[in-house]
Formats: sequence, C-alpha cells, structure tokens
Amino acid sequence: MPRARIRLQTGDRSQARKLHALITANLEEGHLLPRTLSDLQVHAGRFTVAMKGRTIVGCADLAALSPSVAEVRSLVVDPALRGAGVGTDLVEELRRRARREGFDKLCAFTHAPAYFIQMGFSIVPHSWILEKVFTDCLKCPLFRTCGQYAMVVPLEDAYDGRDKAVDPVDDAVGVATAPAARYA
Ligand SMILES: CC(C)(COP(=O)(O)OP(=O)(O)OC[C@H]1O[C@@H](n2cnc3c(N)ncnc32)[C@H](O)[C@@H]1OP(=O)(O)O)[C@@H](O)C(=O)NCCC(=O)NCCS
Repeated sequence: MPRARIRLQTGDRSQARKLHALITANLEEGHLLPRTLSDLQVHAGRFTVAMKGRTIVGCADLAALSPSVAEVRSLVVDPALRGAGVGTDLVEELRRRARREGFDKLCAFTHAPAYFIQMGFSIVPHSWILEKVFTDCLKCPLFRTCGQYAMVVPLEDAYDGRDKAVDPVDDAVGVATAPAARYA
C-alpha cells in the first residue's frame, strides 16, 4: 500500500486534544514548555501541523512575543517519522508565516542549538530577546539556570526561494504542501 504523503496545514481547535497528547509525550525529551489543553484550544490556529493522512505526526506553534518578534514553540515530530525532514519543514513554514505576518525576527529557545543552526539560526545572548525574558523567563523556576540557548534568525533577508515550494492553491487558504518525496 502506498504511504500517505505528509502535508503541512494550519492547526484548528478540533486538533487541540491530539496536539496536547503529542506535546505532552515529548515534554521531557524536548525540554518543552508544558501546554494545557485549554491553552491549545485557544491557540491551535497558530500551529502548523504535519499530517500523515488523518494523523497528526508533527506540530510547531508560531507564538508572538511582540509585534516584531515571534517564537517557535512546541516543535515536535512523532518519533516514528523523525530524520525525514518533517521538523525542518515545520520550522521553514513558521519562518514563511512569520515573515508574511510582518515579524522581524523568529526565535527559538532550545537545548539543541545545532538543529536550529543548520536552519540558519544563530545563538544570541538571552538579553537580546527581552520579549521572551519578560514573557516567560522571569516567572520560570529555572530562570538563569535553564541551560537553553536563545536562537534567532532575522526575517527581513530574502529567503532562499523555498517560499515557492508552497502550493499556490493551498497557500490561498493558509495551507502549505510539504515536498512529499522527502518523506518517502
Ligand atoms: C527536534 C525534532 C523536532 C526534529 O524533527 P525531525 O523531523 O527528526 O528533524 P529533521 O528530519 O528535519 O532533521 C533535520 C536534521 O537535523 C538533525 N537533528 C535532528 N534532531 C537534532 C538535534 N536534537 N540536534 C542536532 N541535530 C538534530 C537531523 O539529524 C537532520 O540532520 P541531517 O539532515 O544532516 O540528517 C524531533 O527530533 C523531536 O520532535 N524531538 C523531540 C522534541 C524536541 O526536541 N523539540 C525541539 C525543542 S526546541
């Protein structure tokens, strides 16, 4: 039987429970911020979701920290589908969306800086992203001892042309199509 291709689409509230399960199952491994179901019901529309058929196999949240800075949050790929480029495609799609939505910078806070560096992010001092410090860090019990790297990529530069990979029909309704061959 042919494998279903993986598509990226905008999340919706009906997916909140499944997003919650996927994120919660990967909290420890990914050092992810815990998300409540009600938070995800409110913010599901900010997610880009990777679908294999009708199953959610990955997700990433584009969270606004300020009018100019957005953050990659809750980036998770189902362990069974890792290493096939799904995570990279999720971050690239967030990057396109952040630029379209007028943000100047996309940031991420992570224990895996190498993963983001290969996608063009740079390590910066936490104090360069004060929006994050005031939004989350100050109330975090691990403030100053969290071990996360602050990563940032500017969005104003002309991107590398992969914007064109988005299916123009799907894009009109806010849905991106991932290059299926990469997941074969
Ligand atoms: C991190 C994660 C989203 C990556 O998803 P994925 O679909 O496997 O990623 P990709 O297939 O796009 O990986 C692309 C490259 O990054 C590398 N990579 C993956 N995870 C990495 C990590 N933690 N550190 C460094 N490099 C990593 C892959 O080996 C691959 O390299 P290659 O192209 O040279 O083979 C996934 O491993 C995951 O869900 N982890 C648990 C949650 C988590 O850690 N979230 C991120 C928190 S910031």
